[in-house]
Formats: sequence, structure tokens, C-alpha cells
Amino acid sequence: MIFGSVGNAKSNSLMNEYASLLSDAVLRHRARVAEQSARIEVELAGKVKSEFIANMSHELRTPLNTVIGFSKLLTQHSQRRLADKEIVEYATLIQDAAGHLLSVINDILDISKIQSGKYTLDAREVNIGEILAGSISSFRTMASEAQIDLRFGIAPDLRPIRGDPEKLRQIFTNIISNALKFTPANGTVDVTARRTTSGGAVVTIRDSGVGMTEEEIEIALTPFGQVDGGRSRWREGAGLGLPIAKALVELHGGTLELHSNKGTGTEVVIGLPARDSVSAVASEKLISNGA
Ligand SMILES: Nc1ncnc2c1ncn2[C@@H]1O[C@H](COP(=O)(O)OP(=O)(O)OP(=O)(O)O)[C@@H](O)[C@H]1O
Ligand SMILES: [Mg+2]
Repeated sequence: MIFGSVGNAKSNSLMNEYASLLSDAVLRHRARVAEQSARIEVELAGKVKSEFIANMSHELRTPLNTVIGFSKLLTQHSQRRLADKEIVEYATLIQDAAGHLLSVINDILDISKIQSGKYTLDAREVNIGEILAGSISSFRTMASEAQIDLRFGIAPDLRPIRGDPEKLRQIFTNIISNALKFTPANGTVDVTARRTTSGGAVVTIRDSGVGMTEEEIEIALTPFGQVDGGRSRWREGAGLGLPIAKALVELHGGTLELHSNKGTGTEVVIGLPARDSVSAVASEKLISNGA
């Protein structure tokens, strides 16, 4: 028994020693892993930040350079006579660049207002079909220049809903412009609107473009997030259209879902509640609270 207890004491102290060695090793390993992941996070944040700054300064600088460059040419008109055609051409370029700049700035203001919960909607009875038809017709030229077949179908039984017509136009414009921007030539973009059984509306914008993976969808929905950011980007933009559209749909009490397959295409499904549904009432409250 005495031997037994001595043996036990010995094995206990050995066990304690092992335990403390093991826990030291575990702690050291954990510290290493934490250090490593903190470093990766810092590196990633730095990369995202510099990509963001590079992209945003490109988005702001390009139109500003156009404005400065062509207005300078116009001011030199007395030294270097310009043809009427050139004057109109330069003024148009300046106008387009300024318009683009204004829309980027408006998007930045919109997302910061949305994020601070200060966005207001001006809701009234709206005809979704009419708003969609307006958005589609503004994209006709762009679609035919890009050789994309832009198709449009509205269910005849679509009912009016309550919403802010300006914001609904902004939502459809942002999503249709993405569909056209990320679909190569000879592709298709289908826009349809149908009525739900509860009297709401479902608008679907489906393209046959480049598509996204699940992870890329997550990036795309984040403000300023762009798939394939950085230098290899093949399309312009600030990365705000999609998150703004989603937030505006949600302010209407609706939902925006993205379904996509890499290389096959993307489908954006926008559900808007019926005029007198509970969520429409909830969104009214949001509007009257000035949220
Ligand atoms: N239909 C689509 N097909 C493939 N990728 C898409 C599609 N829509 C969005 N994306 C991806 O999601 C990203 C974010 O879209 P979002 O509309 O927010 O920004 P953007 O179009 O790049 O710029 P902005 O809309 O601010 O001019 C896009 O850069 C693109 O990588
Ligand atoms: Mg966009």
C-alpha cells in the first residue's frame, strides 16, 4: 500500500508535469495561431483598403480629368479655333463626366445615409410595370451597343404597390446596369415582373453573364465590394449599386435575393410587398419616422 501511494504520488507528479508541458505547448500554439491570423487580417484589411482607395480615386479622378482637360481646350478657343462640332463634342464629354461624378458622389452619400439609418422614402401608389418600362427604355441603346438581347415581360395582372417611384427606379437601374455590365456580347438579359398570390410583385432580372460564386456574392453585397477588385478589373464602378439596391428594397419592406453560377449567369429576385400588407405597413412606419 505504501509502495502504491508512493507510486501514485510519482505518477501524479509526472502527470502534472505532462499536463503543464502540454498546456504550455497548447498555449504557445494558440498564441502562434492568433498572431498569424491577426497578421493575415491586418494584411487583408490593408489590401482591401488600398484596393478601395485605388479604385475610388480612379472613379473620381477619371471624370475630373476629363472635365479639366476638355474645359481647358474650350478656354483656349481664341488661340486655337475649334470647329462647332468639336465644341459640342467637348462640352458633351464634360457633361457626361460631370454627370458620372455626381452619380458616384450621390451613391457615396446614399450609402452613408442608409448606414446611419437616416434614409427617407416618399411612398405613394406606384405602377411597377411603368417604372420598369422606363428603366428598360433608358438601357435600350446601351444594350444594343453591347450586342445584348434585353427582353422584358410584365404579367398583365400586376397590381399597384406602395413605394417611392424614384427609389424603385434607382433599384431597377442599378440591377439592370449590372446585368448589362457583366454580360458579354451575344448574351441575354431578361426582366420580368409578376404578381404574387398576396398581391405583391416579384421582379426578376436574369442575365447570361459572367456569374459569381457564393463567396463572390457576399463580396458583391458589401458596400464598395467588387469581385475581382484591383488592377485586373474590367469594368468601372464604385461597388455601391448592389448594396444600395438591396437596402432600398428592404426599406420598402421587400427582399432582394441573388442566385448565381460562375460562368453561367446571375438572377436577381426582388420581392415587393402588396400595397396593404403587414410589411408595407412596417415600411410606412419607417418612412414616417424618417428612418
Ligand atoms: N449581374 C452580375 N453578374 C456578375 N457580377 C456581378 C453582377 N452584379 C454585380 N456583380 C459583381 O458585384 C460587384 C458589385 O456590384 P455593384 O453594383 O455594387 O458595384 P459596381 O457595378 O462595380 O459599381 P457601381 O454599381 O457602384 O457603379 C460588381 O463589381 C461585380 O463584380
Ligand atoms: Mg453596379
